[in-house]
Amino acid sequence: MRKLTEEKLVLASHNKGKLIEIAELLKPFGKSVVSAGDLGFEEPAETEDTFEGNARIKAHFAAKSSGLPALSDDSGIEIKSLGNAPGVYSADWAETVNGRDFPMAMEKIWNMLEAKRAHRPYKARFVCVLCIAWPDGHDEIFRGTVDGTIVWPMRGANGFGYDPIFQPMGRLETFGEMDPAEKHAMSHRADAFNKLIECLSD
Ligand code: IMP
Repeated sequence: MRKLTEEKLVLASHNKGKLIEIAELLKPFGKSVVSAGDLGFEEPAETEDTFEGNARIKAHFAAKSSGLPALSDDSGIEIKSLGNAPGVYSADWAETVNGRDFPMAMEKIWNMLEAKRAHRPYKARFVCVLCIAWPDGHDEIFRGTVDGTIVWPMRGANGFGYDPIFQPMGRLETFGEMDPAEKHAMSHRADAFNKLIECLSD
């Protein structure tokens, strides 16, 4: 595995929630980070149908544009009774003409599960794939997951995206109700990051 020896790193994401969480996870490693949005880069189209494929598109685009190593995150929620949808299309399910509307997307998911009379509890999994790409075209990939169930009504104002309807296994709170540090300790992003640490250490 190639080690990330460079001190400066681009975060290849325009998603505020992810940027905050990734910057927080990287803090102890003394890397100086700048986001692709701050550098004025556009978001490349995510044309692949896997988390790995889309994570690669974003990281390689930012690495080539900046000349620096870039870290991307492609993530989403898979709901078992919906055939693992929305999966890589998690952000798309929230899209409206006025921007992203996650309460609408969460209600849609709940209504679909109810209409299907799906087997309870409604099992779900958050998936996060992190990709580090270098300007020379090399990359390293790390996948993390966290299992849980979909609950209704939405609970909690912390976090972002689908956090208010995701209750991780063994816990009574949703990700939306958890203290951010608690979510960071057990999330799909933390799981992927724990695998990525090997790439950061000497
Ligand atoms: P993408 O990786 O930019 O395609 O977007 C992933 C989408 O998945 C986000 O916009 C969120 O809707 C959802 N998602 C990913 N990670 C989380 C999380 O930690 N909490 C809640 N929603 C998430």
